[in-house]
Amino acid sequence: MTTHLDLELAAALAAIVLHVSMPAVVCRRLAGGGDGTSTGGMLTTTAANLHHLHLFMHDEHTGPTPTAVLIVNGTGAPVTGDVRFGDTVVMDNVLTEGPTRDSRQVGRAQGTYVTTSLPREGPPAMLVSMNLVLTAGSTVTVVGRNDVTLPVRELAVVGGTGRFRMATGYVLWKTRSWRPKSAVLELDVYLRTTA
Ligand SMILES: *[C@@H]1O[C@H](CO)[C@@H](O)[C@H](O)[C@H]1NC(C)=O
Repeated sequence: MTTHLDLELAAALAAIVLHVSMPAVVCRRLAGGGDGTSTGGMLTTTAANLHHLHLFMHDEHTGPTPTAVLIVNGTGAPVTGDVRFGDTVVMDNVLTEGPTRDSRQVGRAQGTYVTTSLPREGPPAMLVSMNLVLTAGSTVTVVGRNDVTLPVRELAVVGGTGRFRMATGYVLWKTRSWRPKSAVLELDVYLRTTA
């Protein structure tokens, strides 16, 4: 049976090394707690208003505490495997600083993803709508397309609150690891704020 997670695996297997070019300015890693809103080692500020968040999201569909649940079954012929047009997952996934689940938790990814590609009309893809709810209190709102056949998917940052008020930017989304019914996604969030 092919699931969303198998699609993530397919993406992982197709993964290539991506070279992300950073602005040619000196990167300054914020000291934890320095300004009262710092989110710790996962946040780098590369200029007064340019930020990079490096996060790992744990998409857990099984186990004692699943954090992602299929709430709507789609319709029609399978898009791939047993994934169908309209399949809807709601998530409250854990975000950590490192790739393992016991790494320091830095927030939650709360939102939904919906399979929005018709069968045979293109690659399987989902619409992702989520808030990255950071432990320090700020949020980043992400909306975008997750074409699971791509090694790196790009989604839009459409807003934020707190430290990230007025944020705009993008997320580079990769599958870091996969096991049955569970995936770890690596998110590089690049955003600009007004101050
Ligand atoms: C979706 O379909 C599967 C397989 O028929 C079923 O096990 C599951 O309960 C359904 N889920 C929902 C939310 O309808």
